[in-house]
Amino acid sequence: MSRLKIAVLISGGGSNLQALIDAVEQGSIKGEITVVISDKENAYGLQRAKEHNIEAIAINKKSFDNKNDFDAEMSKQLKSRNVDLIILGGFLSILPMDIIKEYEGRIINIHPSLIPSFCGNGFYGERVHKAVIEYGVKVSGATVHFVDEGTDTGAIILQQAVTVADEDTAETLAAKVLEVEHWLIVKAAALFCDGKLTVQGRRVKIL
Ligand code: GRF
Repeated sequence: MSRLKIAVLISGGGSNLQALIDAVEQGSIKGEITVVISDKENAYGLQRAKEHNIEAIAINKKSFDNKNDFDAEMSKQLKSRNVDLIILGGFLSILPMDIIKEYEGRIINIHPSLIPSFCGNGFYGERVHKAVIEYGVKVSGATVHFVDEGTDTGAIILQQAVTVADEDTAETLAAKVLEVEHWLIVKAAALFCDGKLTVQGRRVKIL
């Protein structure tokens, strides 16, 4: 069985990308990361890709006059590579709608909270953890989900909770959750590549 081709989209440091690269190289993900695309020129994740001989492309949002032109370039780059799975690993732009439709059920996103809490427009990165601390919840965590037309609204694949301790700050919580993200994103990619994920309505079942 040929290995699935994976595109990973990033916007920043790429620690989730690194977890995926390591898992592919260790053989726990039966797929191949064939391209890494960033919407920011200087994302360190591009460097991580290059160090592992993975094609790294920057589609700098700032160099486009409007979102349509950015979307068109993003779609062109993705479609031309004919990937089987798109993973958003800390990707902060909204994907073009034609990609979301064409790749329905084949786009996975990692979010640093237990969806449906602390998600949706404006909830990304540090902002998520600040809201969690301010609200005073006792557990938070990470969620891997399929991407649909909404923001963080697709069917949930895996979740893992972490305890929010009294002494936690947004920074210490972010670090705890990021560790869990790395584990979840690798597990979800491995299950997808093994064909073990089935979706019935909003429910994702693991075969
Ligand atoms: C982190 O805030 C993570 O929670 C979210 O994207 C941010 C950067 O992750 N998924 P990464 O280190 O670029 O993978």
